Amino acid sequence: MRTQVGIVGAGPAGLLLSHLLHLSGVDSIVVESRSRRHVEERIRAGVIEQGARDLLIEVGVGERLKHEGLVHHGIELRFRDCGYRIDFAELTAGRGVTVYGQHEVVRDLIAARLAAGGEIVFEAGEVGVAGLDGERPTIRFIAHGEPHEIACDVIAGCDGFHGVCRPSIPEGVLSLFERVYPFAWLGILAEAPPASEELIYANHPRGFALLSMRSAEISRLYLQCAPDEDLALWPDERIWDELQVRLAGGHVGRLPEGPVLQKSVTAMRSFVVEPMQYGRLYLAGDAAHIVPPTGAKGMNLAIADVRVLARALTAFYRTGRTERLERYSEACLGRIWKVQRFSWWMTSMLHRFAEHSPFDERRQIAELDYVASSRAAATTLAENYVGLPYDD
Ligand code: FAD
Ligand code: DHB
Repeated sequence: MRTQVGIVGAGPAGLLLSHLLHLSGVDSIVVESRSRRHVEERIRAGVIEQGARDLLIEVGVGERLKHEGLVHHGIELRFRDCGYRIDFAELTAGRGVTVYGQHEVVRDLIAARLAAGGEIVFEAGEVGVAGLDGERPTIRFIAHGEPHEIACDVIAGCDGFHGVCRPSIPEGVLSLFERVYPFAWLGILAEAPPASEELIYANHPRGFALLSMRSAEISRLYLQCAPDEDLALWPDERIWDELQVRLAGGHVGRLPEGPVLQKSVTAMRSFVVEPMQYGRLYLAGDAAHIVPPTGAKGMNLAIADVRVLARALTAFYRTGRTERLERYSEACLGRIWKVQRFSWWMTSMLHRFAEHSPFDERRQIAELDYVASSRAAATTLAENYVGLPYDD
């Protein structure tokens, strides 16, 4: 097999890259280790920045997003049992976010790729990449019991944090920057109408809680928990009881409860590699960086990376010039570090830290109070949350 751009991973990064390249007349093949059904049903992110929404619509994969996505113009911060609204529309000249499940974005992208005759290999086994520092890197995998090899001009490593691309880069090339947090999120998807029209981020003495949603009938809720939390100790009733306590107060009464459709624990880390490229391999999305989920930024950052990469690859195929590809990391890292800072800030402002002294606890509440009461402080939250503008 032969293609121009070999893409490892059919998450938002790999699929959107393949779609953008197709629009520019560049061929790609996507190789994914999981089944189509698995990636289309994997419950993850839910908040899409204004710029990412505009991009998805502009490139023709935003029809359902436009009709089914819930446009939000604010969030509520909850602390000391009171709620404070951050008004994005007012603070960012009408911008907002769209609540739309990541798996729906993935579904829309897969449908668009397949309708255009694009090739996605699902359930590929033993995926590996080789020849990264040569002219013709390859992706190898097993499909239907047979070994396959794709000869590529370049490879895009869009295979997430646990993928094979980043570890295929020789030791010593990458600098790693990492912070692991001493807590995780226990997340549920529930068949219960959301108690609020907007998201609620709550700092509670028992730990952080987040109320989000997927539709008028489906709630998405999270609780701060231990990194090694045992889900077996969290029957649905205990989860609802804890959510009722941590999300009490403000304008919302008791949360409507309902059947729990999905339950998971997500570890929290901040992670960046520099550079995001080696030879003819370019990393994008979670393969190159992870943010803690508190700012709702991971998928949005993956989208921003592949927007830059697609432009650089298009320029390469149109002109034969490599400057934009050479500057790929540099072009992405400015945004990545600003988003890292924002996600870390939201995480540290909203969670309980076991090592916090009474001084730290009061400082944390003072910070929330400042954000809730100062237009300048609320604006910094709002403009980061709706998404910083793309560079070009
Ligand atoms: P992934 O989505 O991880 O895709 C990588 C793909 O590569 C996967 O399909 C995987 O199966 C495949 N793969 C892995 N290894 C291999 C291999 N060896 N060979 C072939 N394929 C491979 N982000 C937001 O923007 N907003 C939010 O509200 C938000 N909330 C979140 C809430 C939770 C609970 C979690 C867990 C994450 C959240 N995120 C959020 C983060 C977001 O989900 C990720 O940042 C996003 O999935 C990154 O996309 P990606 O395409 O880079 O990686
Ligand atoms: C969701 C996830 C987040 O990480 C966040 O900050 C807000 C909402 C969600 O899954 O809906």
